[in-house]
Amino acid sequence: MADTSATPSSPILEIKNLKTYFYLEKSTVRAVNGVDLILPRKSTLGVVGESGCGKSVMAMSVMRLIQSPPGKIVEGQINLLRSKGKGGKVDLTQLNPRGPEMRDIRGGEIAIVFQEPMMSLNPLYKVGNQIAEAVQVHQGMGRKDALDRALEMLTKVQISAPKQRLNEYPHQLSGGMRQRVMIALALSCNPSILFADEPTTALDVTVQSQILDLMNELQADFEASIVIITHNLGVVSQMASQVAVMYLGKVVEFAETRDLFHHPLHPYTVGLLNSVPMLGRKGQKNLIPIKGLVPMPTEVIPGCAFAPRCPRVMKICSEQQPPLRDVHSGHQTACWLYENA
Ligand SMILES: Nc1ncnc2c1ncn2[C@@H]1O[C@H](COP(=O)(O)OP(=O)(O)O)[C@@H](O)[C@H]1O
Ligand SMILES: [Mg+2]
Repeated sequence: MADTSATPSSPILEIKNLKTYFYLEKSTVRAVNGVDLILPRKSTLGVVGESGCGKSVMAMSVMRLIQSPPGKIVEGQINLLRSKGKGGKVDLTQLNPRGPEMRDIRGGEIAIVFQEPMMSLNPLYKVGNQIAEAVQVHQGMGRKDALDRALEMLTKVQISAPKQRLNEYPHQLSGGMRQRVMIALALSCNPSILFADEPTTALDVTVQSQILDLMNELQADFEASIVIITHNLGVVSQMASQVAVMYLGKVVEFAETRDLFHHPLHPYTVGLLNSVPMLGRKGQKNLIPIKGLVPMPTEVIPGCAFAPRCPRVMKICSEQQPPLRDVHSGHQTACWLYENA
């Protein structure tokens, strides 16, 4: 049989029923509580949701960077679906987070860019050395080639005076430049997946837009899949071809970006869209905040976690959890309103 594992539309990452909990002294934080997500090859997926809904913990779980204790992946699979030549399928939850296989994958095949560049950049090393070292470790390049690669990457991320930056320390750079260096570092080893966790939230609007444009260009150039994590729906519309909406540790809706903005299904998504000003959205008159607060992730909720805030709540909603199901082809939601649609 032909190896279809690497066709463009086939997934590169498949997260199934992922649960990551933090066991604190008096309570259990169910930060990620049954996430299902499929990331297609060579595309950009947006992950949105209010602060605290588990976006970062989900990304850190994939990178196997959750600190244990108190954190633990308690259930589920994170399948990296490589072509056979590149090692085939591997479930990252089964790997030792500090073992050699995971170390190769982290940074080599899956990279992450954080909101705060200093989470990735070492203040004590020159920018060029940091990129070169990553390339030496993951690509097995010699020192000279690795430094050439560092310069090539700094040029690709369109930093001003790239040659000069090689010999500068992170603190000598502006916030926007540091973010460019972090993207250069993340992409230097040709990863097939790049997580960008609120990559522009700390930047001012103009720089934010430049960085997003840059990431769009690089996505095409590197043919990587990008997962852009943000609480900002504007960022999603600028970047992503598909969107997953998270609420309290779960994906509650998944759709093509255009579909999600024009035909949102889950009342939470509708609430999100109505509560933020969106440039060019027709028919948006007033901003309507979602009533109530996100429940604590320490509470055990029997039914849908959005039920207490939902304007369309039904009896079943507080009794049973709705599963994530296809409503139309490629458009999924976890909501009892669509169960018999
Ligand atoms: N190390 C930790 N210990 C305990 N709770 C944590 C830890 N990290 C994250 N959490 C909790 O997990 C939940 C999800 O957090 P996070 O993934 O950072 O949210 P988001 O990125 O969507 O804003 C939050 O309630 C947060 O307080
Ligand atoms: Mg976060």
